[in-house]
Amino acid sequence: MATGSLHTRAQKRADEGEGEVQVTEGAQRQDVVVREPRVKDAEAVATAHVRAWQVGYRGILPDDVLDRIDLAARVERWHGWLADGAFRRTKVRVAEVEGSVVGFAIHGPERVPDAPADPGTTSSGVGELYALNVHPDHWGRGAGAALLTHVQAALAHAGHREAILWVLPGNARGRRFYERHGWAADGAAKTEEIDGATVEEIRYRRPLG
Ligand SMILES: CC(C)(COP(=O)(O)OP(=O)(O)OC[C@H]1O[C@@H](n2cnc3c(N)ncnc32)[C@H](O)[C@@H]1OP(=O)(O)O)[C@@H](O)C(=O)NCCC(=O)NCCS
Repeated sequence: MATGSLHTRAQKRADEGEGEVQVTEGAQRQDVVVREPRVKDAEAVATAHVRAWQVGYRGILPDDVLDRIDLAARVERWHGWLADGAFRRTKVRVAEVEGSVVGFAIHGPERVPDAPADPGTTSSGVGELYALNVHPDHWGRGAGAALLTHVQAALAHAGHREAILWVLPGNARGRRFYERHGWAADGAAKTEEIDGATVEEIRYRRPLG
């Protein structure tokens, strides 16, 4: 079977917002399956999360913030979230390569500060990518692109006309990655508290569909 037709079918399934998407784009690119997480994925998801931050945000966030991240506590937290089904309005999807979970994305309706308990009811038609992290051992092999493509399709499928995300301005790798996928800074910025560090974040936006 030609790789192209595999990719076309996978893309079609992604466009339809289905939960599991196989992306195959070339000889060196790994097969990436995007799927719903299972409770037993907690350790792999937490590890990808922590390592993506510790490597990706080195020199951007203070070293002490990155170095004091407690992996065991993160595993426990992810285990609790996945076991409780804590993600209802928002969705988590993991990227699996050769049977191992190497990254994850979280998406849902745009977060609206001070919105009522279910911000979905005040939806502005805008979706949000809340988080996208890939374990650094797997960077540059298409897992990030598979997750992002899935999120864009799923948000469009949920009725959102456009999507936003917040990124640290110093995150050159992340910004270049998003720009290659059709995202652009829209001029908005905010200040956030991340584990005791005050950081600026800028907003990126992309039309969907
Ligand atoms: C940003 C991030 C999610 C990208 O994940 P990734 O799995 O490396 O993404 P991809 O492999 O799809 O693409 C990354 C690059 O590898 C290249 N690439 C992808 N597959 C490739 C392959 N088979 N061979 C060579 N290069 C490849 C892509 O062209 C892309 O290049 P670019 O960065 O110049 O655009 C990841 O680097 C990460 O987790 N960073 C830390 C956390 C972060 O910044 N998150 C996003 C901010 S909110």
